[in-house]
Amino acid sequence: MASPVLSAAAAILLLLSEAGGFPARAPTAEPPRCGYESCPVTQPSMLNVHMVPHTHDDVGWLKTVDQYYYGDRNEIQHAGVQYILDSVVQALQQDPRRRFIYVETAFLYRWWRQQSAETRRAVTQLISQGRLELVGGGWCMNDEATVLYSAVIDQMTLGLRFLNDTFGRCGRPRVAWHIDPFGHAREQASLFAQMGFDGFFFGRLDYQDKAQRMRSRTMEMLWRASESLVPSNADLFTGVLPNGYNPPAGFCWDQLCDDPPIRDDPALEDYNVDSVVKKFLQAARDQAALYKTNHIIMTMGSDFQYENANLWFKNLDKLIHYVNAQVRSQGSGVNVLYSTPSCYLQELHRANLTWPVKTDDFFPYADTPHSFWTGYFSSRPALKRYERKSNGLLQVCNQLEVLGGAASRRGPHGSGDSDTLRRAMGVAQHHDAVAGTEKQHVANDYAQRLASGWAHCEPLVSNVLSVLSGSVSPHSYCGSLNISVCPVSEDNHQFSVTVYNPMGSAVSWSVRLPVNGSLYSVTDPRGQPVDSQVVPVSNFTRAVRRDRGYAAYELVFPARVPPLGFSTYSVSLLQRSWQGPPPPQPGAPPSIQNEFVKVTFDPDTGLLSSISNLETQQTLRLSQNFYWYNASVGNSDSAQPSGAYIFRPNTSSPFPVSTRAQTFTVQTPLFQEVYQEFSPWVSQVVRLPRGGHQLELEWTVGPIPVGDGLGKEVISRFDSDINSSGLFYTDSNGREILERRRDFRPTWDLKQTEPIAGNYYPVNTRIFIKDGRSQLTVLTDRSQGGSSIKDGSLELMLHRRLLQDDFRGVGEALSEPGDYYDGLVVRGKLLVSLSPPALAADTHRPEAHRQALPPLLSLQPGKTVAGQRLEFSGLQAELPPAVQLLTLSQWDSESVLLRLEHRYQRGESVAHSHPVTVNLQKLFSTLEVEGVSEMSLAANQWKEEMTRLDWRGETDAKPLHSREGSPSGSEVTLQPMEIRTFLLRVRRR
Ligand SMILES: *[C@@H]1O[C@H](CO)[C@@H](O)[C@H](O)[C@H]1NC(C)=O
Ligand SMILES: *[C@@H]1O[C@H](CO)[C@@H](O)[C@H](O)[C@H]1NC(C)=O
Ligand SMILES: [Zn+2]
Repeated sequence: MASPVLSAAAAILLLLSEAGGFPARAPTAEPPRCGYESCPVTQPSMLNVHMVPHTHDDVGWLKTVDQYYYGDRNEIQHAGVQYILDSVVQALQQDPRRRFIYVETAFLYRWWRQQSAETRRAVTQLISQGRLELVGGGWCMNDEATVLYSAVIDQMTLGLRFLNDTFGRCGRPRVAWHIDPFGHAREQASLFAQMGFDGFFFGRLDYQDKAQRMRSRTMEMLWRASESLVPSNADLFTGVLPNGYNPPAGFCWDQLCDDPPIRDDPALEDYNVDSVVKKFLQAARDQAALYKTNHIIMTMGSDFQYENANLWFKNLDKLIHYVNAQVRSQGSGVNVLYSTPSCYLQELHRANLTWPVKTDDFFPYADTPHSFWTGYFSSRPALKRYERKSNGLLQVCNQLEVLGGAASRRGPHGSGDSDTLRRAMGVAQHHDAVAGTEKQHVANDYAQRLASGWAHCEPLVSNVLSVLSGSVSPHSYCGSLNISVCPVSEDNHQFSVTVYNPMGSAVSWSVRLPVNGSLYSVTDPRGQPVDSQVVPVSNFTRAVRRDRGYAAYELVFPARVPPLGFSTYSVSLLQRSWQGPPPPQPGAPPSIQNEFVKVTFDPDTGLLSSISNLETQQTLRLSQNFYWYNASVGNSDSAQPSGAYIFRPNTSSPFPVSTRAQTFTVQTPLFQEVYQEFSPWVSQVVRLPRGGHQLELEWTVGPIPVGDGLGKEVISRFDSDINSSGLFYTDSNGREILERRRDFRPTWDLKQTEPIAGNYYPVNTRIFIKDGRSQLTVLTDRSQGGSSIKDGSLELMLHRRLLQDDFRGVGEALSEPGDYYDGLVVRGKLLVSLSPPALAADTHRPEAHRQALPPLLSLQPGKTVAGQRLEFSGLQAELPPAVQLLTLSQWDSESVLLRLEHRYQRGESVAHSHPVTVNLQKLFSTLEVEGVSEMSLAANQWKEEMTRLDWRGETDAKPLHSREGSPSGSEVTLQPMEIRTFLLRVRRR
């Protein structure tokens, strides 16, 4: 039954809405008191226990996101998010003291759309009174080890925008909440800080780290999450939750739990109030001993709990009542209250302490000595690649929607949109999605959602290309070029290729298309002939492609494309009947080289033997080979097997797939390729394109044979004579670089228990080793696990096929079937470069962006039409080399969202690690910028209104103040690693 207070409030609301007012607010009513203003009173002289009722709702894991939403397939796992929200809202309305938090906007969005006006009003009221608090607020609670920063920013923007649009100011979360991700990235903390969050709580960290933090009472800290941004811009108050995200033992009252309820009627059997209160006071005091203030937080909930919220709330009501009653009667000194993460955070802030400063990250995560969660860095490599490609396509789709205007969503090629892909990408960032730790049917669902996103983007792209070029003939996007399948280029004597470049600078790109003719003419947008080459489709590709395509040759030509624009190349068949290009030559030459790079091969083994940078005249002894670790199935030290989450090899030395490679060579004026076949399931193309600064290694792995009963984890390993002294470097979510030291952690004395798995780190885009003279950098095309197990050595885990589950809940062995059900084949690319350490970033920074945002190819059969526009750029000029165009997307009918990013770290590049200025007025060729407002990173707040709680670190001499950055006119300056977010009011020229 509703309390009198509530009924009165509800009556006012009803009146207002009948009068046509906006439901939640009225000029005469009190302003909403949510967030810090709505916090319950606490007792300064007592221990305050903040009980936070919560549910952890995975956006897909054992079931798909929609199965979880509806509560379908409960035989797999009993979980139904719609019922959780129904039940919680009812329970909150029954008592104004009750609180609840909600996190995953993908679910809230689904639920909200199905609610009546009355329920919506009730929920809006709960939120504007702080009784239902939104925390985190991204579309999902994203993974941190295998995500790219831009996809994190996009998924947070998507979720937070829905919350702001729907609930206004009170819908803006103050606290970031990553209670389940399996380790924590420093870049994630930096992004949260830039999004305006006041604090961050999480549940999982290495068990040794946690023990040490409990001993030293450093569970709460100030994370200084950037070496480049000026403090406090990337400072984030960070708290480790005491108990993962579970309640203390014995106090779980969900229908999914078995703890005894509070039995408080003395007339009935088993009265237990005294023992429950006693046990609770003990739990509270034990926990308080690990933390610094007289406030502690307890997470009262867990996975998919609160489907019947009454169970939890009824017992929590009683617990609060009886524990607090003891204070009055016996002076227990403990005050228990319903609370929220932001109310707890506010009390920590009021404590006015100085906090230890953390500058590294929380990888890798181990929960026991032989259980390092470093396998998921590489699990499901094809899904990881598809997610990365989809991120690139989403940016293209967003940009073209801006460039094309109204015609983009409805035009000659039908209707299209960017929302489907945006939401699919939002779901794919979840910590069991791109992480690769979901069941197979759920992985399939994520892939299908992305595919549906592509299918909605493609008509949009076609519409815009037609508007901009004047050619309405159909476009084809060949999604299987990596296995040489593309019907338009295979079947047509004449076709055109439009190459769209989403970068803010011009790019050169090597186009490679499957064809059946043996000689073609290719002309550029000005009608000038372009060098081209036809080569046979390799046996490697035929073996992967199987019956999915039949092209005999590949046509290769270089394209050059202006920034944020396209170039259209025309291709015509000159000769079909000619014998065809010469077959590959057996064997490897002693060396291959282009203008910038030379590599040599060992004549006996066919393996790489050295790499030279011809510009800097450096040479490095370098071999590269494929190895596999034999996955543990448990041993006498621990029953832990290798699985989707956990990497546990059963020996420290991996086995070579082969000690030698059978080789073939293709040399043309456009590129040099040496094909290396290591076994029927591992091959590689060593490629030097004309004009390329990197050596390309295109690897193909699979189906991994497991007929011998051994799970296998396949790596590519580089061995060099770099004197790397135990150090190596990996990127954090594609941005700043972290130094790693073998068998070492910066903040505690590591007892290393897994010499391989315990040295693995997430690699999102790059890993390198260096000494005084040389840096060997390897760029990846997806997230992978990587390490340097010996000095001079680097390795990346490419693919895993395992035969056992690893006991972390997924309940399946990671053995992906692939399209032919005999094991998944995966293909990808590593880019290798050698340079002096001081110059390395000048190459790897722009190249990593080029790889993350590759050009989109679109093919049209036939000739280009008269008057067709063959070249276009949406920019007036290239952006400065230090600046990356991170986001350009349509926000509403008048405004577009723009993010510009400085791509260099402070001190990393002599040429580029400096402030750089861009004039927004002079940016676009087809858009007039009429107004500029700067926003927070996730675009849910105006920058000038963004205020954050300030926190003092133990190492800070004086209070820190962040730069007051507000745009002065249209000139904006970016500091190293800075991202600035703008809402631009635009008019089409
Ligand atoms: C917080 O602590 C600092 C230094 O210890 C002190 O100068 C300041 O007055 C305190 N602020 C409040 C609000 O107590
Ligand atoms: C937040 O949403 C409100 C409407 O609820 C809107 O007026 C406001 O502009 C939004 N703020 C931002 C920063 O988008
Ligand atoms: Zn989870």
